[in-house]
Amino acid sequence: MKLKKEKKEKEREERGENPQNASKEKWMKIFKEFEPKKENIISILQCIQAEEKFNYIPEEAVHALADYLHIAPSKVYGVISFYTMFSVIPRGKYIVRVCASAPCHIMGSTTVVEALKEILGIELGETTEDNLFTLESSSCLGLCDGAPAMMINDEVFRDLTGERVKEILEGKYHE
Ligand code: FES
Repeated sequence: MKLKKEKKEKEREERGENPQNASKEKWMKIFKEFEPKKENIISILQCIQAEEKFNYIPEEAVHALADYLHIAPSKVYGVISFYTMFSVIPRGKYIVRVCASAPCHIMGSTTVVEALKEILGIELGETTEDNLFTLESSSCLGLCDGAPAMMINDEVFRDLTGERVKEILEGKYHE
């Protein structure tokens, strides 16, 4: 699959097509699904991030979106930095977000984080070498009744223990 993609990219380069333009075309296609209104910024950013291979919002996309919405790039960066779900740094296929707010902390989120660090071999804010997992801490995920809690992409996990974390990662997230 990867080789096929690389071959395609090489062919495009040989045809003199600029990969940057290809990205711009891709983003414009996303933008056009939304009216150029500021209230659509979060939905557009979610779509851009979902489209990007490394789960992030590239700098060029920020500028293209700012142009589309007729706002300063700093406003787009402001939204990105406000929401922990967005990143301008390339990340793994799976984003593991562990709640670090008080109720989860009291119920043992530190143990959960330590287990994740040990299993994945990375610290908070880092991505595994195979680009599969990025480990992040988060403020309340709205799952306080199941503290300590975490999310892996859109999937939620409650009542975690170190052992449970191991089972989850060695289960369907094991590739
Ligand atoms: S405090 Fe952890 S999910 Fe709300």
